[in-house]
Amino acid sequence: MDNPFKNFLKHGDQSVIGIDIGASAIKVVQLAKVRGKAVLKTYGSLALGPYAGLSIGQAVALPADKVSEIINDLLKEANVTTRNSGVAIPLRSSLVSLIEVPTVSDREMQQMIPLEARKYIPVPVSEVTMDWWIIPKEEEKSFDFEVFNKQQPQGGTKISKTEVLVVSIHNEILNTFASIIKGANLDTSFFEIEMFASIRSLVDRETAPVAIFDMGAAGTKLYIIDRGVIRKSHIINKGSQDLTLALAQGFQITPEKAEKIKRNLHDVGGDEKAIYDIISLPLDYIFSEASTVLLAYQKKYNKSISKVILTGGGVALFGFAERAKKRFETEVVMGNPFSKIETPAFLTDILKTTGLDFSVAVGIALRKLQELG
Ligand SMILES: Nc1ncnc2c1ncn2[C@@H]1O[C@H](COP(=O)(O)OP(=O)(O)OP(=O)(O)O)[C@@H](O)[C@H]1O
Ligand SMILES: [Mg+2]
Repeated sequence: MDNPFKNFLKHGDQSVIGIDIGASAIKVVQLAKVRGKAVLKTYGSLALGPYAGLSIGQAVALPADKVSEIINDLLKEANVTTRNSGVAIPLRSSLVSLIEVPTVSDREMQQMIPLEARKYIPVPVSEVTMDWWIIPKEEEKSFDFEVFNKQQPQGGTKISKTEVLVVSIHNEILNTFASIIKGANLDTSFFEIEMFASIRSLVDRETAPVAIFDMGAAGTKLYIIDRGVIRKSHIINKGSQDLTLALAQGFQITPEKAEKIKRNLHDVGGDEKAIYDIISLPLDYIFSEASTVLLAYQKKYNKSISKVILTGGGVALFGFAERAKKRFETEVVMGNPFSKIETPAFLTDILKTTGLDFSVAVGIALRKLQELG
């Protein structure tokens, strides 16, 4: 597919790093293709908080030139040896809508979709860059007027509908990203919204619907993927930093101290109950919003979500998967972003526990590798 963001990019000819500019940390993954396989060369992350006088783990908004500087620091620190890259765009910087249009010929579809999509975009379409994907049909999906419109005559007309996933990004955001990559001297051939990258690294060729639950610092993202295609994305406006801030407030301690407690829950000593009571509040909020979204999907399409895949730094919380299992009442697994790539044997176990926040960067690097052919 033609890259809709190409006007903002300088095209590179060789690769491969994936960069994820998260709310609390920037991650990079360098891959190489060796005998047709994706091989991990290096990876690393840098927390943004300390660059803004805040603690590690907190979400911060930094100006583009600062972000470029941090990317440069990170590439040096991680011994990255190429600038050929793809860069992720946060879901919160985009607008994703699933729209339904009458099924017409492909040519007519190409004309109709941008016009229909306008209705869902709250700003003039000239201000956004848009892309769309037609959701493949499962079986002939038709809307029967007998069911949907009682006024229609008996035996009613059937109108076939096609679902289309429309994604738009404000040009100002793309311009900011273009200036970040310029400042960091990156040779970037595409921008991609983070959800597509996570799906690439985490989801196998599963046919039953699965969900990805990405708990970052600022927010938690939920994606539902059915037959390999994203069908639903949702942002919950609470993330792992809300657990830290709740602890800081509850115990009247600094966010630095609270962050340490959160990351060392496996050995907190006597205060265990008080700590769990505090973090349960934001956690329950996140779980219940996520459950509502999953249940609504299951009801609408009459299908059950076979598995929830956990990712993002926030799910590294001690005991998180067990809690999630209780709440979601389905299979819950820790996602392994490195499962599709070859990693050095000595890193395999370390990556399983400390690499949870790399699904976006790996997914971007995998796409970049595909560009090599
Ligand atoms: N061992 C741990 N236990 C609990 N929380 C952790 C642990 N390690 C990291 N975190 C939390 O994970 C969060 C960072 O995760 P991640 O890097 O996925 O977020 P991000 O990508 O920067 O944010 P976003 O996805 O919202 O843009 C931080 O809030 C951090 O406190
Ligand atoms: Mg993230």
